[in-house]
Amino acid sequence: MKITRKICFQLLAGLSLLTFNSYAFEHNYIVTGKDLFQSTQSLHSNLQIDIIKVEKDLVIAKTKIMSEQAEISHLAHEEHQRCGGFFAFQTKEEALQFVKEQKENSNINAFLADYTINQEDLVRSAIANTKESSIRAVIEKLSSFNNRYYKSQTGVDSQQWLKDHWTSLTSHRSDISVDFFSHSSYPQPSVIATIKGKSDDVIVIGGHGDSIAGWWGRTNAHAPGADDNASGVATVTEVLKTLAQSGYQPEKTIMFMSYAAEEVGLLGSKEIAQTFKRQGKNVVGVMQLDMTNFNGSNDDITIITDYTNEAQNNFLGSLLDKYLPELSWGRDTCGYACSDHASWTAQGFPASTPFETRKREMNGRIHSSRDTLDNMGGTADHALKFAKLALAFTIELDR
Ligand code: BES
Ligand code: ZN
Repeated sequence: MKITRKICFQLLAGLSLLTFNSYAFEHNYIVTGKDLFQSTQSLHSNLQIDIIKVEKDLVIAKTKIMSEQAEISHLAHEEHQRCGGFFAFQTKEEALQFVKEQKENSNINAFLADYTINQEDLVRSAIANTKESSIRAVIEKLSSFNNRYYKSQTGVDSQQWLKDHWTSLTSHRSDISVDFFSHSSYPQPSVIATIKGKSDDVIVIGGHGDSIAGWWGRTNAHAPGADDNASGVATVTEVLKTLAQSGYQPEKTIMFMSYAAEEVGLLGSKEIAQTFKRQGKNVVGVMQLDMTNFNGSNDDITIITDYTNEAQNNFLGSLLDKYLPELSWGRDTCGYACSDHASWTAQGFPASTPFETRKREMNGRIHSSRDTLDNMGGTADHALKFAKLALAFTIELDR
């Protein structure tokens, strides 16, 4: 909480400096998100703002009165829970150049994301439909493969099983497709399920499907990977199942991913995130679920703060407080690019990873033959909490 406030404060201070300076230098061109701009207009119809240009989700506008900027800044924070919801410039050229740079960096998504929480009915009913037993069944199935190593046949078979499972869960929906994303350097494919929304904006819920154990003979080593990461993939599956079966029709396009080859350097997610960046896909938020079922800390959920997006992490905190107040949560660092969220972050997309424990208290049996469901208490009770959080995240980010 303290960190949030501090950083928000610094941005605010920066903005007020900008506003202050604007009296002297006339920074009367602003760049802001379409959503923020629209709510400014509807709340204050008397504002005198001329739209210069609308580009994708951005509005470049000219303000006639300086106090209007303060009004928008206030709205950005209070209504849209955004730190720094607009930028001000002296000239039109500077504003246009800024938009160009933002688009090139893809960081526009982080800047524009709308973290308003206002879908209470949908979220509560979705959360009520989640089931521990179905998460448990997927953990059991995935951990029954000898391993899910990226180079082994069982690593291909496990992803094939998952693709078939996701297809059977969604076959009644013509707006949902399930595909492999093939990788040229190794046999294991990633699996992607897509619920086509009204827009091409993309929300990604993912986890890695591969597992690993030992140092040599890894293709034959017993690597059940029940926690790392059958638990995450089973959690992703529960979110897909719940949304598909409730008939949820999204505004944005929602993609569910089981990445190949995470354990050998985030290879699958790296290729997917790079491809999405190259294709200009507008990924507005990514949730990574890697290890969700070992309940080993006082807090139920730990939000990893490095290689992730701070604003989106704060959004997760707000979602937990509102929808899952019975859970306690905290923050911790991984210390390095420990999972697939880092692949998305590297491409400029906002990513978060809620984790099962504090880093030092995580399941010590991963990457061995003892990473089993029995060694996590035999239920998926802990993972269920993450499925609920991921549903709240998906629905609230979607609309
Ligand atoms: N699930 C583990 C590690 C992890 C720890 C993920 C904490 C998220 C939070 C992951 O599959 C893993 O083993 N990662 C590797 C690094 C990777 C780049 C090969 C590791 O931690 O050694
Ligand atoms: Zn893992």
